[in-house]
Order: sequence, then structure tokens, then C-alpha cells
Amino acid sequence: MIGVLDSGLGGLSVLNEIHKLLPHHSFHYIADSAWCPYGSKSYDQIQARVTTLVDYLLDQGAEIIVIACNSATIACVEFLRANYLVPIVGMEPGVKPAAKLSHNGIIGVFATEASLAGEKFHRLVSTHAQGVQVITQPCPDFVTLVEQGQLEGEAVNEAIHCYMKPLIKADTIVLGCTHYPFLKRTISEFYPEKTLIDTGEAVAQQVARKYALSPKETASYRFQTSGNPERATTLLKTLCPQIPEAQFQHFIETI
Ligand code: DGL
Repeated sequence: MIGVLDSGLGGLSVLNEIHKLLPHHSFHYIADSAWCPYGSKSYDQIQARVTTLVDYLLDQGAEIIVIACNSATIACVEFLRANYLVPIVGMEPGVKPAAKLSHNGIIGVFATEASLAGEKFHRLVSTHAQGVQVITQPCPDFVTLVEQGQLEGEAVNEAIHCYMKPLIKADTIVLGCTHYPFLKRTISEFYPEKTLIDTGEAVAQQVARKYALSPKETASYRFQTSGNPERATTLLKTLCPQIPEAQFQHFIETI
């Protein structure tokens, strides 16, 4: 079984890609919505939450863990890899593909404060974006909007214009947080000339490479949240339309 976690519902953008590629594999997704956002928390706080979720997923039978959260990956993936034996797949803002694709040498990175502050992020820029101008922009309102299920409308439009202002010269924009791809369509409608990069598909390919076991029985899908399960279930139909009957259950910490 594939264990997937995020601070909230954003990781469903990654889960959608995993499910497309491995439709017959079982997975268990946890949204830590009661603790969302991770983006404004300290690395110690993020690591403590993520460790709780990973322990729980392993207890439930996860054979691989997907940290479907850039902030959590940047905060603690090294710690997780040093302390757990199962494969841990993380994710990071797509600076490398963006630097390659940019024609004018200016890229923008939308990500959380926690991700942008990370040494891992700075290393990513210095290794893969040399000679490229990188403009960063935290977008906390995007996370709030997606957690509320607002993918379009006045508040979304306002947030997009406000966050895009400092990045207006960039021709390529990295959506460096798993909540943001749910706003991709609206961002593209306003800024069709910009190339938008997210790494959900690449992460799904990485999962498929690391978890090559054939599915043994009928796939089972489990969704849990530390937030409100009824609300999350309603949003699931929009965010994860290919699994229409799925329901979120309450995540109660047992360990
Ligand atoms: N979805 C998360 C990420 O990819 C973080 C959002 C948040 O909790 O701030 O970074």
C-alpha cells in the first residue's frame, strides 16, 4: 500500500497523478488539515507532525511513503530517510525544469515560506538555476483558498494577481506547493503566456519506479483527515473526481 501525506488537501494533486499511473494499487492518504498550513511553521513542528503521520501510515501497512508536500520534504525528508527503512519519496519545487524551459532567463517560484527558507531550496537554485534570475513569492492565501474548496471566483482572482505582480517579468512559473496546481487553470486563463511547472507527474513516476510490486488484490483507497471529514469529503469530489465514491474519515492519533 502507498502511504501519502500532506498538510491538507493539496497532496491530492499528487495523488491524482499517482492514481493515473498506478490505478490498481491501494493507497492511504492523510490530510493534516487541523495543522494546516505547514508553510508558516518551524521545521521542528513540521517534522514532529510528519513523523506522527508516517508512524501511523506504517502501522496501517504502508510499504512506501510519499511526502506530497514541498514544505514537509524541505523541512525533514533527510531526517525521515535516515530514520525509516521504507522508501520515502519527497518533492521539491520544479526549479530545474523551469530553468531549462525559460526563454528569457527569468523564472518565478510560488512556494510556501517554509520551502523558500530551506537550505535544500537554496541548494536547488544554486545547482540548477545558475545564470537564471529566480524571483520567489510565498502564497499563503492559495493554501487557504484550496482548503476551503475555492478554486475560482473573486478571492482567487485577487490572490493570483497580487502574487503574480512581482513575478510579471518571469516567463516560467514554478507551482512549488502541492495546493497550487488546483489553481493552475485559473492562473493560465489570466496569464496564458507563462509556462506553469508542477512536479506531481514526476513524483508519480518516481513512485512507480520505486514501488514496482504488482498489485495483489482489489485496490483499496482510504482517506483520513485531522480536520473536518464531512467537509473534506465534499471537496474530494472536485479535487479527486476519478474516485467519486471516496469518503474522508477522521484521523485520530493512536501512536
Ligand atoms: N502543500 C504544502 C506544500 O507543498 C504546504 C501547504 C501549507 O501547509 O502551507 O508545500
